[in-house]
Amino acid sequence: MSGIITVTAPVNIAVIKYWGKRDEDLILPLNDSVSATLDTNVMCAKTSVCARPDINENEIWLNKLKEPFNNKRLQNCLGEIKGIARAQKSVDEEFLSWNVRIYSENNFPTAAGLASSAAGYACLVTALAKLYKVKTDISALARLGSGSACRSVYGGFVRWHAGVKPDGSDSVATQIVNSLHWPEMRVLVLVVADTKKHTSSSKGMQCSVATSELLKYRVQNSVPKRVNDICKAIKDKNFATFAEITMKDSNQFHAVCLDTYPPCVYMRDVSHKIVEVMHKYNEICGQTKVAYTFDAGPNACLYLLEKDVPEVIALIKKVFPTTKQDFVKGLPESLEGFPEIPDF
Ligand code: ADP
Ligand code: DP6
Ligand code: CO
Repeated sequence: MSGIITVTAPVNIAVIKYWGKRDEDLILPLNDSVSATLDTNVMCAKTSVCARPDINENEIWLNKLKEPFNNKRLQNCLGEIKGIARAQKSVDEEFLSWNVRIYSENNFPTAAGLASSAAGYACLVTALAKLYKVKTDISALARLGSGSACRSVYGGFVRWHAGVKPDGSDSVATQIVNSLHWPEMRVLVLVVADTKKHTSSSKGMQCSVATSELLKYRVQNSVPKRVNDICKAIKDKNFATFAEITMKDSNQFHAVCLDTYPPCVYMRDVSHKIVEVMHKYNEICGQTKVAYTFDAGPNACLYLLEKDVPEVIALIKKVFPTTKQDFVKGLPESLEGFPEIPDF
């Protein structure tokens, strides 16, 4: 009898957003997207899977709660992996006939606009692929669970090519640069609210595709140039250009959400205040030192360089005093001795 397989997978935060599908079942996007994958174990999903003859039906536990297994995406992922295992004869038929138990936890808020579906499905398909010993493109499997998950399979900066083929075989993620390319790059995650969003990303984008004129404009006119320019900025380590494109794309994505009918409102007053404060900070600095981006939720992800982290954290603490401050990676123990922060 086979044992339990446990794996972890990190989140990725898009700087050019994926929003809108051309195929709901295969999860094929309308546009290319670009993201950075965070270091593993900082914000991640951890998933254990096993298959056993004494499990009566397939089971999934998410964050300690049992969820229904009749979720189409879950079944697509499991069905696809079992199909490959059968074709590759990587495990015997008896093993394939057993039900699975999946147990997964995220170490950060789920369904709150912090890419839990990306880490979650990248993790799930990696664990199942190991369980069934299949050799295949994990990224393509992850895409069947959640589009953004195909990017979490690679480290560094990653591009998901929308592709043009109806079967989705060219809708793949590729690494733009690895995680060593821009070692000074940092992401701060500001948790505005850790509650579940009212409209899931899948529902929200479906509604945008059906109703938003601006989405059509974005896909045709804005994204192609932005993707080219941001890939170049990443390769050249040009922070100012990278940051400007990141902020513009986040803003346009949320404009599309508002252009959706009925509108999807993901950002909150505090989210908008963060936008305002970061622009003011860049203006006072006389250069672009920080970029914000918001997924389908109220929480901010700030991209910045390591040297600017202490000052930006001091600024955030001053403008948004709170007892609970969440941030990611590489922060100093003390903020004493850092320059005075201008008033806002
Ligand atoms: P987010 O902004 O967090 O990605 P989404 O609306 O895109 O939010 O997706 C949230 C959904 O993703 C959850 O309701 C759940 O179905 C799925 N999900 C999140 N985490 C996991 C996980 N660790 N394992 C499996 N599925 C997960
Ligand atoms: C705003 O990948 O969560 O985070 O494919 O329907 O599961 P589904 O949606 P999902 O959408 C992510 C939207 C986004 C932008 C991005 O990550 O590119
Ligand atoms: Co998601």
